[in-house]
Amino acid sequence: MPRNYRLPSYHRQSPAIRCLNFLCAVLLTLVLIAGIILFVLWLSLRPHRPKFTLTDFSIPNVNRQSGAANLPVKFAVNEHNPNQKIGIHFEAVYGSVYYDDELIASGPVMYPFYQPPKGDTLVQGELAVGAGSVGLRLVLNSTVRFQVKVWDTKEHHMKADCGFKISGDGSLHQEDRNTPCTLYF
Ligand SMILES: *[C@@H]1O[C@H](CO)[C@@H](O)[C@H](O)[C@H]1NC(C)=O
Repeated sequence: MPRNYRLPSYHRQSPAIRCLNFLCAVLLTLVLIAGIILFVLWLSLRPHRPKFTLTDFSIPNVNRQSGAANLPVKFAVNEHNPNQKIGIHFEAVYGSVYYDDELIASGPVMYPFYQPPKGDTLVQGELAVGAGSVGLRLVLNSTVRFQVKVWDTKEHHMKADCGFKISGDGSLHQEDRNTPCTLYF
């Protein structure tokens, strides 16, 4: 049996230093656990942006009307809130139709509304355009605020940009139905 089975002296620290090391380890562990909890909370509370899908667009009287006087265009865009628990407040939605980057129709299309979690709203509008065209873009813009219970969220200006083509009879090309719109937030 070895006579001296104690640890070498450099391992024998004073009780004060051992205590300090222990406290440091406990503190670091607590900070780590708090960090993980905050990260998980942030992941589950973080708001996701709404999704927009163009479901219909038409210029119903494109052939019946001579002249370029105020053709009505009709459209429907589905707005979806992908959040499990977070509602979204929309201010008034404003619609603009572009042909070749030229604004051909615009106006307010929807009153302010509240979108509950997981909800969908069909934003339908009717605007007047000057002439029937082929490649068009519909842009919806609004101001939104996420309703997170824990904190107050700021306002975001958003713009949904939907590009599509219409056929000679003024209806939406079949392959452009239900295409997602690009969201600028
Ligand atoms: C939406 O766009 C129109 C026209 O560009 C603009 O007048 C209006 O201020 C915009 N609204 C928001 C909330 O950004």
